[in-house]
Amino acid sequence: MIIAVDGPAASGKGTIARALARHYQLPHLDTGLLYRAVAATVQRMELDPSKEADAVAACGFDDLLLADPSLRDDETGQLASIVSAHPLVRAALIHRQKRFANQPGGAVLDGRDIGTVIAPKADAKLFVKATPQIRARRRHTELHAHGSTLSFDKVLADIRARDARDSGRSTAPLVMAPDAALLDTSFLSIEASVQRAVALVEDRIRQKPAAG
Ligand code: C5P
Repeated sequence: MIIAVDGPAASGKGTIARALARHYQLPHLDTGLLYRAVAATVQRMELDPSKEADAVAACGFDDLLLADPSLRDDETGQLASIVSAHPLVRAALIHRQKRFANQPGGAVLDGRDIGTVIAPKADAKLFVKATPQIRARRRHTELHAHGSTLSFDKVLADIRARDARDSGRSTAPLVMAPDAALLDTSFLSIEASVQRAVALVEDRIRQKPAAG
């Protein structure tokens, strides 16, 4: 079974995808980490993230980098949304994601284009959203817990800038797949969001005609 979980930054998609992977005992890939690794490599090589050739040169990153906690910081997220808009960067990362999705037994992947590009035939697709203010509040709390002093307004502005870049790009923009189920986590706890996600996946599986 392939489960695709898409949505904007801090919508809760990562937490939901991890919980679904545990629930169904499937391997999970956070595809945002791949773009974050490209962004961090661009930065370390002192390349220009807005130049496609520079960003492509950073796609051969060392896989050990994927475990580096600094990939999760806000600056790397912003840079990731710049490098991820280059079609050749997306092309360089697509096979790895498709291979993961199509492994025997299935997988859970979360990102922006899983249901539309990486796994268009996924058994269940979720699109997770929440208002920008609520996402900024969550991200602000999380950053402060890790010692950041960024203001709420700056976090909200960053979220809006990233949304605009991710939704406005011409290749694989952040859009809800027509056959995805919408999950708005704005006023749901983590536990309630996960319960709802499992219920939506169960619904999808029941509705899907049996293969063969
Ligand atoms: O999900 P996360 O916030 O870690 O993603 C970082 C950035 O990587 C996103 O803002 C987006 O630009 C890019 N991304 C993408 N496609 C994906 C996953 C992430 O373009 N499937």
